[in-house]
Amino acid sequence: MSVSRRGFLHIVGSGRTSPRQEMSGAFLAARGLEAHLAEAGHNGRAARPLLPPGVHEIRINSNENPLGPGRAALDAIVGTFPEAGRYPFNSTPSEGDLAEAVAAKFKAKRENVVMGAGSQEILKSAMRAFTSPARGLVTAGPSFETCPGMAKKLGHPLTEVRVDSAFRLDIEPMIAAAKGAGLVFFNNPNNPTATVHGATTVADFVERVRKASPDTVVLIDEAYHDYVTDPSYRTAVPLALETPNVLVARTFSKAYGMAGMRIGYGIGRADTISKLARLKMPYNVSVFGIVAAITSLHDQTHIDEEVARNTEVRAFTVKALDDLGFTPTSSQANFLFVGIQRPAKEFRDACAKAGVFVGRDFPPFEKTHARISIGTMDEMVRATDVFRNVLRPATSSAGKAQ
Ligand SMILES: Cc1ncc(COP(=O)(O)O)c(C=O)c1O
Repeated sequence: MSVSRRGFLHIVGSGRTSPRQEMSGAFLAARGLEAHLAEAGHNGRAARPLLPPGVHEIRINSNENPLGPGRAALDAIVGTFPEAGRYPFNSTPSEGDLAEAVAAKFKAKRENVVMGAGSQEILKSAMRAFTSPARGLVTAGPSFETCPGMAKKLGHPLTEVRVDSAFRLDIEPMIAAAKGAGLVFFNNPNNPTATVHGATTVADFVERVRKASPDTVVLIDEAYHDYVTDPSYRTAVPLALETPNVLVARTFSKAYGMAGMRIGYGIGRADTISKLARLKMPYNVSVFGIVAAITSLHDQTHIDEEVARNTEVRAFTVKALDDLGFTPTSSQANFLFVGIQRPAKEFRDACAKAGVFVGRDFPPFEKTHARISIGTMDEMVRATDVFRNVLRPATSSAGKAQ
């Protein structure tokens, strides 16, 4: 059956006036439908409950871009349907074209880039390539769980260095722990605490780890790079391109709005990247992801608009929580980490009853803090109304958050 571009857009559109609004509406509707298909216990996460008629869910639990890919990327996906029968090495554009486009963005070469089915593949491959029973992982606690999860599965040593009192990665103890480690995971901004370190701190960190432990690989995960507004921050990609044993992981899942397309990459010196490329599953990115990513790389306007939108809605949500007496950590991402003075589960379950789905537990702060992703302004207006009801009065069963 052939589906024209216009026909496809008609199928997914919601009949609103502008094409962008149509697509946004369709995405919001699709996010709603998918909820009912969520499987219980999938990935250890509970299924979202079915809601009473008239209550629309708000999914602010996974740090996704609520508006999805830009219009140009969507058009490119539709235009690529005829290539669906090709393998990604043989398609137009191909996986190699995407690696070239990513490399060109950083004035690097194709051998400096390895593509992944999301950046999680890069993280997993880095664990397999660089850690061993003798040389473990150093990460922050809490931080993104893929690397520590792999350490546990592989039985490799794991050191989680608690974040500092401002919920930032704690530099000094992480450097101390890095000696003899296989891999240091440095998430900047850090998920779930949303804090960031400036470029000078990151460069110093890398230099000192390299001095103390030259064979240790430093993986700087910049999944939320585009959302940072702190002027002291800069990407570590140039640092990774010139420094042995350093790589940066990036993803199209966040500001680019392509979490469902599964495209990420690692970038660094060729001798570092080749160790990950060896572990890559053949044809790990789809032809639709490839074309959407290449198109998005040339659509800076979409990223600029998304970042401006997130910054505005983030400020609104921070203020609403502040007004309630629950001040989030300093957020440089599309989510907030908030001391809610009760267990995250209690807060999560109460919000879910009103159709608002917030983040999972993040030990060691699961008794005091919740992670809230930034949705659309409409969603956050509704969500903060729900927070107002749920959080007031504070029924502390865990004591006051530090
Ligand atoms: C810090 C961090 N890194 C990596 C990922 C993985 O993203 P993906 O596999 O979708 O690229 C996430 C997802 O939430 C994340 O928060």
